Amino acid sequence: MEHNWITSEEVHQYVLHYSIAETEVLKALNKETNESVKGAQMLSGAHQGAILSMLSKLIKPRNVLELGTYTGYSAICLADGLPEEGKVHTIDIDDRLNEMRLQYWHAAGLQAKIILHIAPALDVIPTLEAEFDLVFLDADKGNYINYFDLLMDTLPVGAVILADNVMFHGDVLKPEEEQSKAAKHIQAFNDHVQASDRVETVMLPIRDGISIIRKIK
Ligand SMILES: C[S@@+](CC[C@H](N)C(=O)[O-])C[C@H]1O[C@@H](n2cnc3c(N)ncnc32)[C@H](O)[C@@H]1O
Repeated sequence: MEHNWITSEEVHQYVLHYSIAETEVLKALNKETNESVKGAQMLSGAHQGAILSMLSKLIKPRNVLELGTYTGYSAICLADGLPEEGKVHTIDIDDRLNEMRLQYWHAAGLQAKIILHIAPALDVIPTLEAEFDLVFLDADKGNYINYFDLLMDTLPVGAVILADNVMFHGDVLKPEEEQSKAAKHIQAFNDHVQASDRVETVMLPIRDGISIIRKIK
């Protein structure tokens, strides 16, 4: 089950048909995640995966940072625009999915390009030396603001952060007293980003909402 509540199934199928096709490896990973892993709605899926792949190809990042690996689907898509020596550093606190992640990264020929870190992202980010031009922010919503502030201190001007779930099932549209805790975190994050003069942002109503945030100073 993909997490597409914004568009109708008809629209979703139409845009999928005319977008970069899901590779056999991604199809298999999507299927196995949906059949056997808890929380499968968290997986980016075919359309968002195509968007991550296209943006990576357009941005041509030296290195990519991903916060929130889950079963490793988005890491494969984000690797698409990397140069020969570029890497995706992806961080997750859960090591139970390691075997599955490595199996699919290997199948995609990316075992040497995707570097997995198992620890809280806030601890790992300051230890990374690579320069990141593209970040996929998709870990715990309660820390989105902390991730943003940390990244503002370390990313080069021109770097792009893709923040996922910025419309949080539509809960951000509800009055505050009806919002879930996670939706309140996301609402606070959206306000925090908007108040920053160091970035420019476009929010896209795709899947669960994605903001493209570009560091300008
Ligand atoms: C939405 S899922 C990531 C989905 C994945 N990016 C994809 O598109 O297929 C969020 C992941 O963040 C991880 N996570 C939660 N808290 C974290 C933290 N403090 N540091 C790093 N990862 C965390 C969870 O274990 C989970 O696998």
